Amino acid sequence: MSRKVTKAIFPVAGLGTRFLPATKSVPKEIMTLVDQPLIQYAIDEARAAGIKEFIFVTSRGKGALEDYFDHSPVLEQELRKKGKDDLMATLKRTYMDSGAIAYIRQHKALGLGHAVWCARRLLGPKEPFAVILPDDVIAAEKPCLQQMVEAYEELGGGSMVAAMEVPPEKASSYGVLDYEGETNESVKVTGMVEKPPAGTEPSNLAVIGRYILAPEVMKNLNKKKEGAGGEIQLTDAIADEISEGRNVYGYRFAGQRFDCGSKAGFLQATISFGLSRPELREELQDYLDELAAVRSAAQ
Ligand code: G1P
Repeated sequence: MSRKVTKAIFPVAGLGTRFLPATKSVPKEIMTLVDQPLIQYAIDEARAAGIKEFIFVTSRGKGALEDYFDHSPVLEQELRKKGKDDLMATLKRTYMDSGAIAYIRQHKALGLGHAVWCARRLLGPKEPFAVILPDDVIAAEKPCLQQMVEAYEELGGGSMVAAMEVPPEKASSYGVLDYEGETNESVKVTGMVEKPPAGTEPSNLAVIGRYILAPEVMKNLNKKKEGAGGEIQLTDAIADEISEGRNVYGYRFAGQRFDCGSKAGFLQATISFGLSRPELREELQDYLDELAAVRSAAQ
């Protein structure tokens, strides 16, 4: 029996340069999809999966992120006075219990593996932990990490990464899996490569930013091995698990993933999440239809 996954690491130290100038003063994770910041989607997903402790690996200039999870008595008083119960409930979703959230600084941008390693002292030596990359936003009936936790419990331990098929020409932007055998959604991973040069990818099954990791992965990160791009890669530390004979699974989740680390992905997510809101759907759809009509008339 594997131990329950109750802690999640959120690596949020990146500078978000692709979104400059917005990210000059606003952390990327606070950028808004419809009406909630990226990080709220990640937190909601973690909570649905049973996560109780939230570890943020941050950097300079991420103060707004810390403030976001604070209680706000003035706002609360105002909403209460006006009887705005629905907004009150929305506000409460941003609250964290005291002690449920921790912030660790990554002092140097040495890579995703290094960011995760920065949280090592907050994890027990025997507990598996989750990692969520908030840039990867996943729309799903059952939240992606919850799907993974359920599958992980059934498989009884090891490590698991979310996986998705990508077009071959895009594979070099991802961690890519080599695998064998397929049981339902899970595949047994036999190798993993971070950002393989075009044409060398072992498959078109790419790693997406949700992980459930065995405690040994943290030990592998202790080696501080430099990988793709000269960075300490999480992919490499997970691949080490395979060479040490422990199980690693790829989990093909049900849902649609948006790459909110890119502008096009962020805009697609905005439209998709907008269309999923009953109060916005009609107006937004009318606008999209209008755009499509103008486009086809111009062709
Ligand atoms: C990171 C991981 C990569 C993974 C990707 C998913 O890369 O290193 O293995 O496929 O997230 O979004 P990044 O996008 O930070 O370059």
